Amino acid sequence: MATTPFDLPDSFDPEEVSGSRADSAPGEDSAPGEDDDAVRREAAPEESSRASRHWWDRNADEYQDEHGEFLGDDRFTWCPEGLDEAEAHLLGEVKGLSVLEIGAGAAQCSRWLAAQGARPVALDISFRQLQHSRRIDLGRGAEPVAVVQADAAVLPFADGAFDLACSAYGAVPFSADTAALMREVHRVLRPGARWVFSVTHPIRWAFPDEPGVEGLTATASYFDRTPYVEQDEHGQATYVEHHRTIGDRVRELTAAGFQLLDLVEPEWPEGLEQEWGGWSPLRGRLIPGTAIFVARRG
Ligand SMILES: C[S@@+](CC[C@H](N)C(=O)[O-])C[C@H]1O[C@@H](n2cnc3c(N)ncnc32)[C@H](O)[C@@H]1O
Repeated sequence: MATTPFDLPDSFDPEEVSGSRADSAPGEDSAPGEDDDAVRREAAPEESSRASRHWWDRNADEYQDEHGEFLGDDRFTWCPEGLDEAEAHLLGEVKGLSVLEIGAGAAQCSRWLAAQGARPVALDISFRQLQHSRRIDLGRGAEPVAVVQADAAVLPFADGAFDLACSAYGAVPFSADTAALMREVHRVLRPGARWVFSVTHPIRWAFPDEPGVEGLTATASYFDRTPYVEQDEHGQATYVEHHRTIGDRVRELTAAGFQLLDLVEPEWPEGLEQEWGGWSPLRGRLIPGTAIFVARRG
């Protein structure tokens, strides 16, 4: 039988979808799957990557269905607060640059970059997310975005291959060894290139992942770096997120050879009433939900 890039393997079973932390990544609104436990425990790089790949393959359809409109097919949105690169200019001038987008999902940001005259490559660990990129390109009849399936911790590119790297909530929150990830990004960038990435604001780890008032009382230590893990009945991780404090992130960047240029904490904008998991107007007006690190390779 002929297949299209959007076909799924026969073994794909949407009924097997496991849930996730309520606001673990932008878009993950469901509770852990019925048979999954949500725990705080260590999770090694291999286990974390495997869990991410399977989780995003299983949940990509739901994610794109739920958030595709907010993201836009060719917008560069940094976060649930809706900060748009077209207004924020965190990347600087992108025209003519070769750009690596890490944890690109359906490559919406890369499509915006291409429209500005950049040459993006969209990398993601999930094949299904990248199939959504192809779906969008086919629907528009446009030149497809170049996509690569790989783990951000082991980038399949030559040293100095890119002029810019960026990530909107991709890979970084899910990687066990972000110090290594920062070194990898540093390796594939040319000297002076920018590396800009957004993540859940670290302070959110002290609060329950709830959009309502219950999400406003600190119940966990901000300093507890133990990963959040959902695991199946065999104790195998099905979803993992890793926490770093603000200081950890700064130290990982500088140890890898980056200079931190800015740390942006987008404020909840007037008039935005849309919730995204634990990101809500109520919480957004009181505590930051996103941190965007703007760094330059030394
Ligand atoms: C919250 S989504 C963000 C996607 C896109 N940037 C957006 O804004 O919709 C996180 C993405 O990171 C990808 N990801 C998770 N771990 C990864 C890893 N270790 N390497 C590469 N991509 C990863 C997931 O597959 C997923 O597409």
